[in-house]
Amino acid sequence: IQPDYQSVSLWAAHYVAAKIKSVNPTPERPFVLGCPTGSSPLGMYKALIDLNKKGIISFQNVVTFNMDEYVGLPQDHSESYYSFMWKNFFGHIDIKPENTNLLNGNAADLDAECARYEEKIKSCGGIDLFMGGIGPDGHIAFNEPGSSLTSRTRQKTLTADTIIANSRFFDNDINKVPKTALTVGVGTVLSAKEVLIIVNGHGKARALHQAVEGPITQMWTISALQMHEKGIIVCDDAATDEL
Ligand code: GLP
Repeated sequence: IQPDYQSVSLWAAHYVAAKIKSVNPTPERPFVLGCPTGSSPLGMYKALIDLNKKGIISFQNVVTFNMDEYVGLPQDHSESYYSFMWKNFFGHIDIKPENTNLLNGNAADLDAECARYEEKIKSCGGIDLFMGGIGPDGHIAFNEPGSSLTSRTRQKTLTADTIIANSRFFDNDINKVPKTALTVGVGTVLSAKEVLIIVNGHGKARALHQAVEGPITQMWTISALQMHEKGIIVCDDAATDEL
């Protein structure tokens, strides 16, 4: 628990940087990082960019896999997760573009795209550290309430609550928000060697309470983190209001 969002972001960035450094990644054995979108990780991305610019951490031997992507949104749309990642992170660090992986929400065969993604993660040796945020309803990636806790990458229909929450990025117009997304499963996240979740603000307090003090349930998919041997939550004071 950190006092505020700034400290949460710095804590997370330093943790990730130290983790990458500790394994001394090489082109043959890169560090595999799972990446989220959303506003929660923005401060951490900024701090990681800063550490990269100062030469404290390099992403040259880091391979990334993003958690999710909207279905049917053109890749160059300003709110695609592809655009988000290049605008807020990849475009400012020394990562090799070919080492960044995102689901293609415009693939002709979406099921095949999800299977390909799982295979690619496997062929890279699995994810070393999956970073993430959560929705106010406790969803991780786009694993909405009711998602199987053993789920793998697949297409999910967004709940009305998530569509309303995300409409702030689409001119506050729910009709412009895609209704489905491709997302890694809860099982995919749990398969990572380590999971680091960022939670900030009072709006996430109920979800944090369910994640930490509630039962493990598919209705609050973040609660599955209780089953992970190395699941870390870094949060601010406001998010602990219901603990
Ligand atoms: C979206 C993303 C999630 C993210 C959530 C919360 O639904 N798919 O990965 O955790 O938004 O976003 P924010 O951090 O902006 O509250």
